[in-house]
Amino acid sequence: MSSIFKTKPISTLIAETEGKQGLKKALGAFDLTLLGIGAVIGTGIFVLTGVAAANFSGPALILSFILSGLACIFAALCYAEFAALVPVAGSAYTYGYASLGEFWAWIIGWDLVLEYAVAISAVAIGWSGYAVSLLDSMGITLPKALTVAPSDGGFINLPAIIIIGLITWLLLTGVKETSRLNGIIVVIKVAVILLFIVLAVWHVKPVNWHPFMPFGFSGVAAGAATIFFAYLGFDAVSTAAEEVKNPQKDLPKGIIYSLLICTVLYIVVSGILTGVVKYTAYAHTSAPVAYALQQIGINWGSAIVAVGAICGITSVLLVMMFGQTRIFFAMSRDGLLPKFFGKVSEQRKVPVSSTLLVGIVTAVCAGFTPISIVAELANIGTLSAFIIVSIGVMVLRHKRPELHRPFKTPFVPVIPILAIISCGYLLISLNPITIIRFVVWLAIGLVLYFLYGRKNSTLNDQEKSA
Ligand code: ALA
Repeated sequence: MSSIFKTKPISTLIAETEGKQGLKKALGAFDLTLLGIGAVIGTGIFVLTGVAAANFSGPALILSFILSGLACIFAALCYAEFAALVPVAGSAYTYGYASLGEFWAWIIGWDLVLEYAVAISAVAIGWSGYAVSLLDSMGITLPKALTVAPSDGGFINLPAIIIIGLITWLLLTGVKETSRLNGIIVVIKVAVILLFIVLAVWHVKPVNWHPFMPFGFSGVAAGAATIFFAYLGFDAVSTAAEEVKNPQKDLPKGIIYSLLICTVLYIVVSGILTGVVKYTAYAHTSAPVAYALQQIGINWGSAIVAVGAICGITSVLLVMMFGQTRIFFAMSRDGLLPKFFGKVSEQRKVPVSSTLLVGIVTAVCAGFTPISIVAELANIGTLSAFIIVSIGVMVLRHKRPELHRPFKTPFVPVIPILAIISCGYLLISLNPITIIRFVVWLAIGLVLYFLYGRKNSTLNDQEKSA
């Protein structure tokens, strides 16, 4: 039984990334920061801000963003230490393997499937909503049966499936091409957000900020747990570790810079959004940023923001799918998932089978599931992975104090403990039904681990041959 808590030596983890099955090393700190922003700014700021302002936070939306942002910054500082120490594809999953052992690694990997695959489905559904309404405003109306899931009165969400199909194809064409396209989209979406700020800031009326906390502090916390989705994705930077030229320096920079840039933008945008229009008005729109500009009469700005949002949400899909395929790749290399998923194409150096698997599963999920269920599940999966990683930093500092750490989380154990408390607080602020679904998900993961992963783990072979 003890073997399930065996950790994987860091030297082995790094050695495994070299050789025939290795990925192409093409990315630098700048690419990584773009990758992070590409994964982060999307459905959260463009769609969920309205939901959170109208239902939970009111004008205190800005506090919800600060609360969630702080939790992410604490967690990011922990991620950065691991990312520099273990620059291997697989992100938190791999960090768990190095510090807490195989069992916890599997649990994190299983949580990350929620974070990435489930979030991909939620984001694709959001993309579909924006695309359908943009087409609608151009006079092209698609039938409801083809644009929403059965539980929402449709048959299939075809636009969501199509966008996932396109992104899957792009990822199969290779990493550098993917990162170049991502860079262009990131520039567009940051420009659109800056445009919103510049146009709207002059129309803020402080009277809209009263009452500041209409739903009390528990509303602010529930709002924070909802818009946590907006931050999700900065850790995707670490899943690209094996494709980075100088990972020990560049990974911490990529993670921290992208998160800081997004946090500042979010805080400014949320303050302006609730200052321009009364928070209650956001109950009637799924495109709050474009809606705010419409309300102050800047229709051309609103149209540009809508197009920019579609681009922005597309790049979230790109990076999240990229991240999920790399996590499957790492889990399969370790034998916890069938070897088939770790196969890298000789020519393009891309993990083909895991990319196809993620594409198919997320397309089916996005085509037939409502957004509300998938978005909350993505949040809980991520929060639990953040908590385990923060514990991992403290455990590894205690067990292997001598390791050379190119980036050190400051003030250990204070920062990891703050990460655990703040992520834990957001987790329990989520809807109880989400917590129950999450427990069921974990139970399925445990069954799979004991039926397959534990027996097939490559760590077993290494022990036998040792
Ligand atoms: N943070 C990403 C978004 O908001 C998942 O779309």
